Amino acid sequence: MLESGHSQKGWTSPQESLRYLFMHITHLSLTNFRNYGRLELDLPLGSILLHGENAQGKTNLLEAIYYLATSRSPQADQDSQLINWDAAEAGDSVVVGRLIAQVATQAGSRHIEIRLIQEQGLSLRDGQRSFRRQALVDRRKVRLMDLLGNLRVVMFLPQDMQIVTGSPSERRRYLDITLCQIDPIYCRTLSGYNKTVEQRNALLRQIGEGTSSQDLLPVYSDKLIELGSRIFARRSLFLGELAREAQRVHYEELTKGTESIRLRYLPRLQENGSGSRGSVGPLIALSEWLQENQMDQPAIQAKFSEALAAAQANDIARGATSVGPHRDDWRFWINGRDLSRYGSRGQQRSAILALKMAEINWMNAATGESPILLLDEVLAELDEHRREMLLSYVLKSSQALLTATDPAMFTAGFMKQSTSMTVSNGRVQPDDD
Ligand SMILES: Nc1ncnc2c1ncn2[C@@H]1O[C@H](COP(=O)(O)OP(=O)(O)OP(=O)(O)O)[C@@H](O)[C@H]1O
Ligand SMILES: [Mg+2]
Repeated sequence: MLESGHSQKGWTSPQESLRYLFMHITHLSLTNFRNYGRLELDLPLGSILLHGENAQGKTNLLEAIYYLATSRSPQADQDSQLINWDAAEAGDSVVVGRLIAQVATQAGSRHIEIRLIQEQGLSLRDGQRSFRRQALVDRRKVRLMDLLGNLRVVMFLPQDMQIVTGSPSERRRYLDITLCQIDPIYCRTLSGYNKTVEQRNALLRQIGEGTSSQDLLPVYSDKLIELGSRIFARRSLFLGELAREAQRVHYEELTKGTESIRLRYLPRLQENGSGSRGSVGPLIALSEWLQENQMDQPAIQAKFSEALAAAQANDIARGATSVGPHRDDWRFWINGRDLSRYGSRGQQRSAILALKMAEINWMNAATGESPILLLDEVLAELDEHRREMLLSYVLKSSQALLTATDPAMFTAGFMKQSTSMTVSNGRVQPDDD
């Protein structure tokens, strides 16, 4: 790993700052992705403003980059929705959507690709069209999971507020996508853990129905404890770091020293009784215990094992595993109160902004490279001070893509430092200076 990009000597040599800023996409190529039939686009370093009328393909372009980085869409619930619908309906037996990014990093240049493959015939098994994905790094097939980390992004979306106000699953999703971008071991552990939860739940249902005995349960429980304890520890470490940075950014940069927020991990290391949103006290205590015992895997395993045993009878009755990181949550508090319930919209928005800025700083520190920033129509919602703060992050990053219907909201100074491009009906054209 690289040392920090800031030199101890108090100045930064050109090479050093170049290294620090390195990760960026030099070329993006899309085929049959959303409303892009075919796109070949060179991208410069620095900030890039994509402007155009509604429904032209601005968000789709950011989605493509996000998808290449995370293998997830920020919005589609089914990946088959990503394939260009004209191509899907043209009647060919196989339709391939293709996303390719040529990425420059401090380790050299990389070619990363995802193929979305849809067979047109209906499968005999479930009557659906078959759909699969392939990932390639430098033209060699890899598991989708192994694509992660080759391109790192932080995305800002108008619907990010759901991270505060939405369900715990939304917050876990954010957590996992962020961590997976820098920690492939975490990602593999998580995938194994999720499979184990499914298998254990299937067994719990069979036990409940009387079609299986309890003999096999310890096998799945042990695996769950082994993998789950590592996830608890990693999330605790990560959220601790992110919380500190988000609190700092919120206090120092966003609210000019007037308001502080607190972000806390709520690990489901114990059943939470009624399930009401108010009863977080015991989970906060567990969170603090985890902070102190992050490195002590046997202690975490013992605690998780105890919780599983205590929940076992209920779990059999319900046919589902009620404790474990798949039920984790984390939340913000403002002035000691739950932000999702008591915060104003402006306060919620500031918290999200602080979280994302902290994510950028955390990725910088963790990898020595600045992530690519993707901002979809978020500036219009911010007041002048917050807009300025966010734009300062944009101007510091190696590459940032911003969308706007109205470029007039950007200052002349900002426009001078940015490349602007017009998006129109699935085409992208750099503007003349
Ligand atoms: N699978 C698909 N195939 C073809 N077109 C699609 C597909 N999915 C979405 N689209 C269309 O792509 C167009 C562009 O969508 P996009 O969200 O990128 O617009 P936008 O430029 O961000 O607009 P806005 O300013 O309203 O946010 C829309 O008309 C949308 O209906
Ligand atoms: Mg849009």
